[in-house]
Amino acid sequence: MPADPQNEPPCGPRHVAIIMDGNGRWAEARGRPRLYGHHAGARRVREVVEACPGLGIKYLTIFAFSTENWKRTQVEVAGLMSLFKRYIIKETRTLAQNGIRVRFIGDRVRLDAKLIELMDTLERETANNDLVHLTVALNYGGRDEVARATKRLARDVAAGNLRPEDVDEETLPRYLDTRVLPDPDLVIRTSGEARISNFLLWQSAYSEYEFIDTLWPDFTAAELERLCKSFGSRERRFGAVPA
Ligand code: FPP
Repeated sequence: MPADPQNEPPCGPRHVAIIMDGNGRWAEARGRPRLYGHHAGARRVREVVEACPGLGIKYLTIFAFSTENWKRTQVEVAGLMSLFKRYIIKETRTLAQNGIRVRFIGDRVRLDAKLIELMDTLERETANNDLVHLTVALNYGGRDEVARATKRLARDVAAGNLRPEDVDEETLPRYLDTRVLPDPDLVIRTSGEARISNFLLWQSAYSEYEFIDTLWPDFTAAELERLCKSFGSRERRFGAVPA
């Protein structure tokens, strides 16, 4: 019997990671403060999460705040932190009821106690969900993550739980913030910049990249679908020669 395309498993990416860039420029183009763009960007997150099940995306990882973002003005940093709190308070129930499992990656040390408490609650309230795994990178930097992982690994060696000669490519990922996640298949960066800006450095070694001009607040589920289809039509060889 010929395969029914309606029933075929999606051949698009299973794990999509997004660098959501361009909020500031989007706001400035409208003569509004940068935070106006971040609020518009936050609304896009919901649309993209909702599109995931239909596109076969099981894992979505989004870059919300980098270890370098503290260098922004105090007004912008404080505004973003308060946006994250409000977003979590507003969305926890919907995410929990819609099968979304939320995790945070990044270093929590510089975050305020109230935000950490909200992050913990959201993780706990969604811990039994499995439809889509949404990971939010908050105070995240790829180099910082590898450094923190190495510190934990070194402690295990010092404690006699791990032998240096047993450390290989399989060992380090078990100490990364992303240890329970598969590597991203597709990394998207919006707003026309072709950089990875310290995002998922170890994990994206074999990921496909899409750098698109759209500013994050203009990004739509339709554009995500287009990128997923284009991913499905490419051949990934992981360094091997085609058969
Ligand atoms: C980059 O745009 C965006 C950020 C640093 C923040 C990303 C945050 C959001 C989209 C808010 C919502 C997130 C969650 C998880 C609710 P930019 O400010 O660097 O833009 P620019 O390059 O145009 O200045």
